[in-house]
Amino acid sequence: MPGLTIGDTLPDLEVETTHGNIRLHDYVDQSDFTIIFSHPGDFTPVCTTELGMMAAYADKFAERGVQLLGFSADDVDSHNQWIKDIEAHNGGHKVTYPIAADPHRHFIKQLNMLDPDEKDSSGNQVPSRALHIVDGRDKKIKLSFLYPATTGRNMDEVLRVLDSLQRASESQHKIATPANWKPGEPVVISPSVSSEEAKQMFPQGYNTAHLPSQKDYLRFTNVN
Ligand code: BEZ
Repeated sequence: MPGLTIGDTLPDLEVETTHGNIRLHDYVDQSDFTIIFSHPGDFTPVCTTELGMMAAYADKFAERGVQLLGFSADDVDSHNQWIKDIEAHNGGHKVTYPIAADPHRHFIKQLNMLDPDEKDSSGNQVPSRALHIVDGRDKKIKLSFLYPATTGRNMDEVLRVLDSLQRASESQHKIATPANWKPGEPVVISPSVSSEEAKQMFPQGYNTAHLPSQKDYLRFTNVN
């Protein structure tokens, strides 16, 4: 059975964190979007750089109405000790977001964050680098990344996909963002929008790519 993925509702779990107990639905209610992300283990190199980078990008996430929640199988005491290393390594950026503790892996399993291949020194499975972006309005997963322990995530890519999700959501999904898109660049008009509708919806105009198929589905417009 596939685990939690795009379109699923986030389970309403109550988890212990470095900021006390948190009920997930109450937490995601507080922001437009919440990034729930797991890491394989405290006091490991890639994880230290990732959680530090999350802290360094905190203002950029907050500007976008986005909050964070980390997750691993380590306990709260371990997280609190490790946070000192994260902050020291990353130029002193404070880890202001909570990190959940799930030593029994009950929640990590339900959140589809367990790596089948990666084990800790006691032979227990550890989380992958999973990342779910949850919409606070309907509590559904809008985007998921799943990376192995050996690949650290790119926070610029996390910001980019947040900008894409927000742009598509504002337009009620009448536009989408193409490959390598960045804010300020042209977007594409969704295939569900007919040419007649597109003329009404995008008075600024749009360019249709000339394709060998002669189909007119690849339409670029500027929405800034
Ligand atoms: C790391 O964070 O560096 C790491 C954690 C688990 C396995 C491999 C790398």
